Amino acid sequence: MQTTRDIQSTRAAVAAARRTERRVGFVPTMGALHAAHLSLVKAARSECGYTVVSIFVNPTQFGPNEDFERYPRDVAADLAKCEQAGVDLVFLPPVAEMFASDAATTVHVATLTDTLCGPCRPGHFDGVTTIVTKLFNIVQPDSAYFGQKDAQQLAVIRRMVRDLDLPIEIVGCPTVREPDGLALSSRNAHLEPNERAQATSLHRALCAAREQIQGGQHDPDVVAQDMRRLIDAAGPARIDYIGVVDPESMQPIEHIAGAVLVALAVRIGQKRLIDNVLVDPSEQTS
Ligand code: PAF
Repeated sequence: MQTTRDIQSTRAAVAAARRTERRVGFVPTMGALHAAHLSLVKAARSECGYTVVSIFVNPTQFGPNEDFERYPRDVAADLAKCEQAGVDLVFLPPVAEMFASDAATTVHVATLTDTLCGPCRPGHFDGVTTIVTKLFNIVQPDSAYFGQKDAQQLAVIRRMVRDLDLPIEIVGCPTVREPDGLALSSRNAHLEPNERAQATSLHRALCAAREQIQGGQHDPDVVAQDMRRLIDAAGPARIDYIGVVDPESMQPIEHIAGAVLVALAVRIGQKRLIDNVLVDPSEQTS
């Protein structure tokens, strides 16, 4: 496995791999790698002959009062995991390599970023789309792999790639969960034991929503109210949002008639957790 820290040697390594005509798969990450990241690597390796992982805690996607400083970092463990998972190249740039001090360009995807996490985290998606565009330009992959857990991020990146005609296939991969349903996240490492127990209420609420919708509930407000009750009953939490939205446009649905994304963001203590389920009402519960 090769490790690079600068753009030029990353481009050279990928270009050398291309000369053997291998398909290049790319998994952008912020490190603190866990089984969900490794599932993306596995998907990339199953479709591509050369797999690149980037590890970069991108400062521009964190707000001033968010957890950029506290975000978990363990490069040695991440590199060992990548090596074991069969990654070919890890790109580990320092901040100065990615952002000139006078950088003046931002990639902004409108509308899709106006809902769910958008209003709660001003500037977040611009930070994501700008860094992902830059990483795409550096690695120039054939396919890039993202988790469905960040469903809005995935939809925003798909739209960006479509709108900017980037020749990259975006592959969404299923959310990886703990046995009790909690979606894997690097931030779970910071949950206290009581918060960890309380956090299972997110998945329970999403499962309840799915059951309700597939049982014939068409009113998103009723679904959201019941989810809110379930989460509140599990302990003190601040619900940033519960949304029932169109899975592509991320716009709120007024009457549930087709597939919807049910998504939430909940703060437990200092930690902000997100999760979602895609629900097709035509798959009726028995
Ligand atoms: O999902 C993430 O880890 C980040 O948002 C990403 C896509 C690596 C961009 O920094």
